[in-house]
Amino acid sequence: MSLRVIPGGRGDADLPGLLVVGASEVVTVAGGPRAGAGQAEVDRRSAADAGGPTAPNAPAVAIWKGRILAVGGRADLERVLAGEGYRLDLFGRLDARGGAVTPGLVDPHTHLLFAGSREGELELRQRGAGYLDILAAGGGILSTVAATRAASAEELAAHGRRWLDEMLGHGVTTVEAKSGYGLDLATELRLLEVAHQLGTEGPVEVVPTWLGAHAVPPEFRGRPDGAEAFVRDLLDEQLPGVVAQGRAVAADVFCEQGVFTADQSRRILVAAAGFGLRPRLHADELAPSGGAELAAEIGATTADHLATPSEAGIAAMAAAAADGRPVVATLLPATTWFLMKDHHAPARTFIERGVPVAIGTDFNPGTSPTPSLPLAMTAACLNLRMSPDEVLAAVTINAALALGLADEIGSLEAGKQADLVIWAVPTSRQIPYWPAADLVRTVVKRGKIVLDRA
Ligand code: NIG
Ligand code: FE
Repeated sequence: MSLRVIPGGRGDADLPGLLVVGASEVVTVAGGPRAGAGQAEVDRRSAADAGGPTAPNAPAVAIWKGRILAVGGRADLERVLAGEGYRLDLFGRLDARGGAVTPGLVDPHTHLLFAGSREGELELRQRGAGYLDILAAGGGILSTVAATRAASAEELAAHGRRWLDEMLGHGVTTVEAKSGYGLDLATELRLLEVAHQLGTEGPVEVVPTWLGAHAVPPEFRGRPDGAEAFVRDLLDEQLPGVVAQGRAVAADVFCEQGVFTADQSRRILVAAAGFGLRPRLHADELAPSGGAELAAEIGATTADHLATPSEAGIAAMAAAAADGRPVVATLLPATTWFLMKDHHAPARTFIERGVPVAIGTDFNPGTSPTPSLPLAMTAACLNLRMSPDEVLAAVTINAALALGLADEIGSLEAGKQADLVIWAVPTSRQIPYWPAADLVRTVVKRGKIVLDRA
């Protein structure tokens, strides 16, 4: 076992080191992003093999200055640490008390920032209204746009803090946050700035994405060429403004029949990629719309939803993965559940065809008002037929890959950011098994204890 001090970690306020002990299992998900049969391989280190969580050589995690030093048996770790010249008295002890330890969860798809709520649409849909019909009538995304344009940065930040706290309480340590409820440059920049500020505040890390093409806004809708004129506005005015601000790291598009075409999506994403924004898209959520094909063609980092991809789209994503340039299939089963769909994303097909699968909440006020990634994990097990281990890889290392952060977060291995969760259950397989229960005991972000329900 080789140990090294990684410079640049923030460290702990009191002690630079932390030793997480007393776990029933440590699930590292080490070894890089997962696809195919590997999606189910999570590297589970069970204390039972060592004689139980309190046995001398039960699995433990060593952290130094915000980074993982090593994972191994506690006695082995202490011996090696001492041999490498570390003072063991500079390591705090964190007792997992028989809980499971996993990497901090990563939510790779949220619409974190918005104003207002849309509970009325739930009842409209129960009475048979379609999601896109509500949007076409000026409701849906557009009603949230009106409320969001009227909200101050302070109001949006207060809303964001409230829901980030909820996410942290469900074990999430990194969150992607899209704009998309401004649809004018000033409001989009406000959303991206607030997302960035919330991440700076911590403890949850926030990855801002520009979703300029979320819907055609009211001021363009009355015009016969409205969608096309708005796309030109996005390309000529908004994208340069977003790039000049420098907060967004990715660009997203709602590529869907009746919203933005594959051709319009291609133009926006290719232009954004030219400015260094990682391309990603809402693809084939409600009907096959050429989204999966486009994602493979342009080398998108991730294609999201994919509830109704065409066979050609699946084949294109499988071919891209086989070529070593995988597009992550970021599936959002809480959304299909909340929209009362009886058709779900073909997760098993993606896994069989070697496409890495990630799972997110899609947290938003219309189609998925849940901040709970563990609840989305349950939906992935029940509706996508993924195993609990496949789902764990989907919300850790593969979600990190969807955010371009697979070298930094998403697994417990030497050199990575020390983001982990101690669960109040003895195995990670129980995380999706107790839907809507509060299962998080302790959260460590960058080596600091940021939540402790002990
Ligand atoms: O991912 N489909 C587009 N965007 C969101 C919903 C946004 C909304 O309804 O406010 C989604 O489902
Ligand atoms: Fe979404």
